[in-house]
Amino acid sequence: MTPLHPGLFISFEGPEGAGKSTQLTRLAARLQEHGTPHQLTREPGGTPLGSRVRDVLLDPDLSIDPLPEFLLYSASRAQLVSNVIRPALARGEVVVCDRYADSSLAYQGAGRGLPVNLLREITLAATDGLTPDLTVLLDLDPAVGLDRAARRGQPDRLERADLDFHRRVRAGFLHLAEQTPARFLVLDATRSVDALAGEIWAAAAARLP
Ligand SMILES: Nc1ncnc2c1ncn2[C@@H]1O[C@H](COP(=O)(O)OP(=O)(O)OP(=O)(O)O)[C@@H](O)[C@H]1O
Ligand SMILES: [Mg+2]
Repeated sequence: MTPLHPGLFISFEGPEGAGKSTQLTRLAARLQEHGTPHQLTREPGGTPLGSRVRDVLLDPDLSIDPLPEFLLYSASRAQLVSNVIRPALARGEVVVCDRYADSSLAYQGAGRGLPVNLLREITLAATDGLTPDLTVLLDLDPAVGLDRAARRGQPDRLERADLDFHRRVRAGFLHLAEQTPARFLVLDATRSVDALAGEIWAAAAARLP
C-alpha cells in the first residue's frame, strides 16, 4: 500500500502525441503562479540511470523483447521513485510525472501481451506500492496522436510500432481508468489545449496539499 505522504503525486498518461508534455508544462506554469513547490519528471528518465535507460528504450535501431523491455522500464521507475519522487512527496511537494506505471500496464500488458499479474507484481516491487493520487489520461485515437508526433521529426522505436499495437494500448489505458475511476481524470485529447489545461488545473487544485 502507498504510505501516506504530505505531497501530491500526479501522473500524465496516454498514447504518443496525446499532449502529455504540453499539458504537463501548462500545469507546471499554474503551480508556479500559485507558488506551489513542485517537481516535474518523466518516465523513462528522471535520474542519471533513467536517462541512459531511456536512450536504450527509444533507440530505433534496437530490437528489445517484451519482458526485457518491461524490466528496463521498471529499473528506471524504481530508481526514479526512490531517488526523486518519494523524497519530493515527503517534503510535501507536488510531483508531476510524464508517464508512470500505467504506461507499462498499457504498453507491455495490453500492447505486447505480457501477463498483467506479473507486471503488477514487479511494479509493486519497483515502486514500493507508490500509486499516483491523480492520473490524467489524455485519450486519443492513436492515428491522430502518431500523426501529431510525426510532425516532430524522426519516429522513435515505439512510434514505429504498428497501429494495432497502439489501439491495444489505448484500450488498455481506458480499461485501467474503468478499474480505478477515483484516481483517473479521462479527457478527450482532441479538445483545445486551453480547455484541457483548465480541467486539469481544476482537478489538481482540488487535491493540493
Ligand atoms: N489539444 C491539442 N490539440 C491539438 N494539438 C495538440 C494538442 N495538444 C498538443 N498538441 C500538439 O500535438 C503534438 C504532441 O504533443 P505533446 O508532445 O505534448 O504530446 P505527448 O503526449 O507528450 O507525446 P509523446 O508521447 O510523444 O511524448 C505537439 O505538436 C503539440 O503541439
Ligand atoms: Mg511527451
